[in-house]
Amino acid sequence: MESLLTEVDHVAIAVHDIDAAIAWYAEVFGATVVHREIVESDGVDEALIQVADSYIQLLTPTRSDSPVGKYLAKNGEGLHHIAYRVDDCAVALEAVKASGARVIDEAPRPGSRGTTVAFVHPKASFGTLIELVQEGD
Ligand code: CO
Repeated sequence: MESLLTEVDHVAIAVHDIDAAIAWYAEVFGATVVHREIVESDGVDEALIQVADSYIQLLTPTRSDSPVGKYLAKNGEGLHHIAYRVDDCAVALEAVKASGARVIDEAPRPGSRGTTVAFVHPKASFGTLIELVQEGD
């Protein structure tokens, strides 16, 4: 079968101080932010740095009880999740569920920058939190 994963959409990194992280990427790599967004439903402030057709997504919590806030408290800064781009988030999520794997989102939901997303549980995917991202039109 043809792969449902068409691209690495983003690699997400959880940080305490997003402005310091943005400044570091700019200073060291000359890499700048192309999109900034607060996603209140997820309790995150995110900054996207473009690398070819993918992004580095710097993430910081807007409140300590958000999933990223809890993650930072428990694990500290570092890799948080990897996001794969898919043509159809619902189709990809159904494929995961059909395999019997555990998911976090039972149905696709809105993500940042007009995307549709769903998360797969890291217990199902060898310890990596996976996000499936369908780009908006
Ligand atoms: Co993400």
